[in-house]
Amino acid sequence: MHSAVSSPAPEWLVVPEDANDLVPAIWPASAHRDADGELVVGGVPAGLLARTYGTPLQVLDEGEVRRRAAAIRSAFDAAAEAHGTTARVYYAGKALLNTSVVRWVTEEGLNVDVCTGGELEVALAAGADAGRLGFHGNNKSVPELERAVEVGIGTVVIDSEIEIERLAAIVSRTGTTQRVMLRVNSGVHAETHDFLATAHEDQKFGTPLSLAPGLVSRIREIEGLEFVGLHCHIGSQIFGVAGFRESAARVLDLHQELLAGGDVPQLNLGGGFGIAYTRVDTPEPIEDLAQGIVDAVAEGCAARGIRIPALSFEPGRAIVGNAGITLYEVGTIKDVALEQGERRYVSVDGGMSDNARPALYGAQYSARLASRAGEDAPVLVRVVGKHCESGDIVVDHEYLPGDVAPGDLLAVPSTGAYCAPLSSNYNHIARPPIVAVRDGESRVIVRGESLDDLLARDAGIER
Ligand code: LLP
Repeated sequence: MHSAVSSPAPEWLVVPEDANDLVPAIWPASAHRDADGELVVGGVPAGLLARTYGTPLQVLDEGEVRRRAAAIRSAFDAAAEAHGTTARVYYAGKALLNTSVVRWVTEEGLNVDVCTGGELEVALAAGADAGRLGFHGNNKSVPELERAVEVGIGTVVIDSEIEIERLAAIVSRTGTTQRVMLRVNSGVHAETHDFLATAHEDQKFGTPLSLAPGLVSRIREIEGLEFVGLHCHIGSQIFGVAGFRESAARVLDLHQELLAGGDVPQLNLGGGFGIAYTRVDTPEPIEDLAQGIVDAVAEGCAARGIRIPALSFEPGRAIVGNAGITLYEVGTIKDVALEQGERRYVSVDGGMSDNARPALYGAQYSARLASRAGEDAPVLVRVVGKHCESGDIVVDHEYLPGDVAPGDLLAVPSTGAYCAPLSSNYNHIARPPIVAVRDGESRVIVRGESLDDLLARDAGIER
């Protein structure tokens, strides 16, 4: 039925035996079909969610977020303990930030990493202990730094020389002492399946390794700044330990050099642990990654004859990515004849405003019928949104049952990370609510936007 020659499907996409299947790696563990074939997540049927809250709808499985947060924490704890050190896990809030998620992850024992004053306020509004927050960013403003110091933030990750002086002025004015790290650019840049190591990485974050000793000396001169160690983050959606290993080796050379001038008790190796978005993605289990990275650091320290520092990590996507799904309603369907074969375009009621990742990064996703199981043989589809833009793709390539029809609910899994945070109001489409599900219950954790919200900032409307 689908010969390879006439199909516009990419090579990696296999025709599934069952186009209603739910591949475990890309769904929350709670996801299953009930006896009628309807998708159930967190104990709540997809149809009920759509009727209660409308579509599009972002659904977040609270149990899955908690389970992943706890699993990552214990994976790093165990790996660190085996080498006589400790590991602290910061949830990278940029992946998905609201007060509920902050409470879940902190209750599971995580710290939180924020990268703007706005993210800091969300974490504080959730009641997070400021001492357990880390503050990043390549361009923190003076008011942002003042606020962070004032609330007693655990660590400020200094990104540049200018920031040292900004912080110096603040701590001298307020008479406080602020713990700081220095973000370095190790020259290692990781892509999903690969990494590149260069002498000079061409990007905006951190300071080159060669400049770091001078900057750390400067930090150590300032009375109100306590230098605790180096920070390095090599990228996102990384699948193996090789990039982390190379980066750790480079950073440890510097770490060792800095020990000559005083204590360097900590080392933060960032986040970036990859997840599966489609059935062909095979990230390493987090336990293996944690062990591989911590072993590499321990070996590097042993080889240099130095004590292994207290470690920290900053996963975002690995905690929330697979815990989120987006529900859409199918609106229109059309078959488009191509030079070879044809493609069925399935349009849904959201799109690049609720998930910009396909348009921004060419990200691949999967989709499944959610309101029911389909009956017909699989057909190749492209799920697209309702925006006035041809790049408005939700799922570039997928097989769905051939009887997919207007009014069906579609679920796109693995949308828990970097979808809501990157959402927009393009074409004046309201941002969807975020609903948490757990043990058969659902509740709104971020309300959806209304028409009033969409008009609220237009100064030309008389009120
Ligand atoms: N730490 C730092 C300093 C970071 O810059 C990031 C991500 C993380 C931790 C968390 O990375 P994760 O574990 O979530 O991969 N919008 C892009 C991803 C941008 C990541 C930015 N930094 C995407 O949707 O793929």
